[in-house]
Amino acid sequence: MDKLDSQRPAARALQTVRNLLLAVALYTVLTAVLQFFFYGSLTSTHPPRPTNQHSSSSSTDSPSGSKSSNGYAHLRPDSLVVANDAYMGTRPHVDTYANFTRLVEVCRGSITSLERMKYVYDCMQYLIERKDDYYYIPTENAPSIGYPSYVPSSVNDIGTCNGPIIPYHIWWSGKCTWRVELFIKSYFHSQNLPCSRLNLWLDVDVNPNAVDEMMRDPGFVRFLPLVKRGDIKLREWKFPARVLLRQANDGEGNGKIIKLGDGAYIDEMGNEWLEFSTRKMTFLPVAVSDAVRFVVLHYEGGVYCDMDNVLLRDLRPLLVPPNHGFAERWGWYEGPWDYNTAIMSLHPNSSLSQHFLKGAVKMGINFHPYIIGRLVYKDGRGEEFTMFEDGFFDPIWGQFNTPGVTRCTVPCLENYGQAFLGRKNAIPKDWKAYDGPKFEEIDGGVSGNDAGRNSDGAKNTGRSAYEEDWSDKRRRRRRGGAEENDNNLQPRAPAGFAPGYDIDKDPYPPNNRTLENFFRGAYAYHIHNQWAKHPEPNSWLDMVRKTHDGFLNGNRVNMYGEKWNGPQLVSYDPFPEFN
Ligand SMILES: *[C@@H]1O[C@H](CO)[C@@H](O)[C@H](O)[C@H]1NC(C)=O
Ligand SMILES: *[C@@H]1O[C@H](CO)[C@@H](O)[C@H](O)[C@H]1NC(C)=O
Ligand SMILES: *[C@@H]1O[C@H](CO)[C@@H](O)[C@H](O)[C@H]1NC(C)=O
Repeated sequence: MDKLDSQRPAARALQTVRNLLLAVALYTVLTAVLQFFFYGSLTSTHPPRPTNQHSSSSSTDSPSGSKSSNGYAHLRPDSLVVANDAYMGTRPHVDTYANFTRLVEVCRGSITSLERMKYVYDCMQYLIERKDDYYYIPTENAPSIGYPSYVPSSVNDIGTCNGPIIPYHIWWSGKCTWRVELFIKSYFHSQNLPCSRLNLWLDVDVNPNAVDEMMRDPGFVRFLPLVKRGDIKLREWKFPARVLLRQANDGEGNGKIIKLGDGAYIDEMGNEWLEFSTRKMTFLPVAVSDAVRFVVLHYEGGVYCDMDNVLLRDLRPLLVPPNHGFAERWGWYEGPWDYNTAIMSLHPNSSLSQHFLKGAVKMGINFHPYIIGRLVYKDGRGEEFTMFEDGFFDPIWGQFNTPGVTRCTVPCLENYGQAFLGRKNAIPKDWKAYDGPKFEEIDGGVSGNDAGRNSDGAKNTGRSAYEEDWSDKRRRRRRGGAEENDNNLQPRAPAGFAPGYDIDKDPYPPNNRTLENFFRGAYAYHIHNQWAKHPEPNSWLDMVRKTHDGFLNGNRVNMYGEKWNGPQLVSYDPFPEFN
């Protein structure tokens, strides 16, 4: 190309486009390479690019190709066992603090040797059995001092918290898929509702009408009563041009702007700001969502959760202690800087939250956990930002990269895809680590509300309408059990199932999976993306959905033995491909 040619406007435009494309390509390659080297995988742990939220799940994850249930979908029972729904005991008191020092000591060991880091099973056993050892109620300055008394929520009223209300933050861009529904329902299933608020941040840089569209989204419409009740707030996320670091007191400021360097300055009124020159920043959704959590937590505190989590326990005891900044470890990476921020918490307006923001600006508005983690560590502030081990929020992450090193978790999943599998024997080691009593399998199985009972003992308070039904089931023969000689058996279809149903031919037969054994002790399970995948019937994730539905239609209790007393929620939509 000669000089004259390259100076023509068209050619210059072309050149600009080419440079831009090159830059994008370079960025993509670099990110992938970095990701691969640092984390050993190309799968990010972050929310999706909007483009893949709508793609259909045409992937061939089933060996036989077909996903259909061969006509058994409407005949099969939901489960072979009656779940013990209230397996967590009573909900922690509103003032309960988790002892971070103790939790780190037990589940990690020392910071240099990490003696306990890989003992995820033991960590979770501790979390479930030793609440008395790591939970406590402060004797002085309890957070609830001065608050009104507790009023539980009801159909139209969110209730009253007898302590500070904790904000929860999630971010999304795109339609309300079943995965958004899964997170939100897991929140309602597990958290202390009068004492929590769920902020759903919608990216209005990508779609200026995101809030309106969400309010009309068929997937979200079911939650409108809870928007009305005040549980869910739809918030507009716009990438800010600057962030307020410190608000001036009256009379501060000398009418001039004072530059402090690295993007920070004090304005005429004395407020301290941090400038985000967004020119420097890539607007990939992953990068945006990385930034959202730090900005939002700096302003409002509480907890940020990536949408690809399922909450399994009340997070409050981790969120109310005075210095509760935390995130997770990246699998079994050993660096004290190897944070993952899929679930993280910061004290608002704190020196730590400011430090993160300033650091990210220095690094060119880069909030990637790898960058941020190195930063806090290098600046000697790692101690202030607790790193929780895999057993808290992501139990399987380390174990399947190095299988067999320590005892597996229950269930023993060897990759993130297995939580979606419902075919018989699809998960070879599913129960490998379990050594508790076997569940009684009910002949003919159980469905709907009968699939859960209120508490461990024989009592079934609250399900009296089903009492008779229940004892009927008990009287029937157990599958393969010892009560073969029961003469009171009612005549019934073979093996007690509905006429026409053959459990051996059903591709997704009912089984004994219950939420009680889905990473019990962990606060959350991290699905890690897989946005387009649908859980097969009777997979672990399908069981989670059914458990949510049973609770949210008011019939089953949650893990704390509580009944849902909010508006009745529409159940999850079935996935037609599994019919
Ligand atoms: C928290 O745990 C640490 C370490 O085990 C212990 O020394 C401390 O006394 C505990 N704090 C409370 C308030 O129980
Ligand atoms: C943080 O500071 C801002 C401005 O200084 C203030 O509006 C906000 O209420 C503070 N947030 C919290 C949770 O204290
Ligand atoms: C659940 O079923 C599997 C497969 O039949 C079995 O290996 C496992 O022990 C059962 N678990 C319980 C708790 O009964």
